Amino acid sequence: MSAVEILVKPLMRHRVSELVALEHAATDFPWTLKMYEDSLDADYWGGVLCRGQQLLGAAVVSSGAGESHLLNMFIAIEQQGQGLGRLLLTTACQHARHVDAAKMFLEVRVGNGRAITLYESVGFRQIGVRKDYYPGLLGREDAVCMALNLMQAGV
Ligand SMILES: CC(C)(COP(=O)(O)OP(=O)(O)OC[C@H]1O[C@@H](n2cnc3c(N)ncnc32)[C@H](O)[C@@H]1OP(=O)(O)O)[C@@H](O)C(=O)NCCC(=O)NCCS
Repeated sequence: MSAVEILVKPLMRHRVSELVALEHAATDFPWTLKMYEDSLDADYWGGVLCRGQQLLGAAVVSSGAGESHLLNMFIAIEQQGQGLGRLLLTTACQHARHVDAAKMFLEVRVGNGRAITLYESVGFRQIGVRKDYYPGLLGREDAVCMALNLMQAGV
């Protein structure tokens, strides 16, 4: 990894199209430009992982009524497996604490073992399943619903 510092910066509208292109290469089901723009319009927290000017990944969190929801997260395909997903996730959790959320929720595809392992490793636990929640490559796919107690978690 380069010696240039890796930082989480606020999501900025003028870099959304770059993020969308990066996410397209990283996952079969990327967020669209409109989803990012709607999140900015709604004042959701967007965190972009950067090394200098290079974008490495992003996460979006909505918050309200003492709860936060991780709406999206990805790391650029060629940057995965270096601990950046964990860094971005813990930063998103710290943001949730900062806005006084007691719990953080997320949904993840049942087949996304890699993300589920990451979420469990920071303390998220399964609280339910949403049947046929996502469109899939071969029909619909269930979502695992997970929650993190921010009062107890060590992140
Ligand atoms: C899921 C994702 C964000 C993880 O990011 P990452 O930078 O590769 O993850 P990290 O390197 O920080 O690894 C964090 C943990 O994930 C798990 N993990 C990483 N690679 C894994 C693999 N190939 N298999 C299983 N678990 C894996 C491990 O628990 C790992 O922790 P460890 O290295 O201490 O064992 C990334 O793979 C991604 O962007 N995937 C496509 C988009 C996506 O699925 N987003 C989540 C939607 S809910």
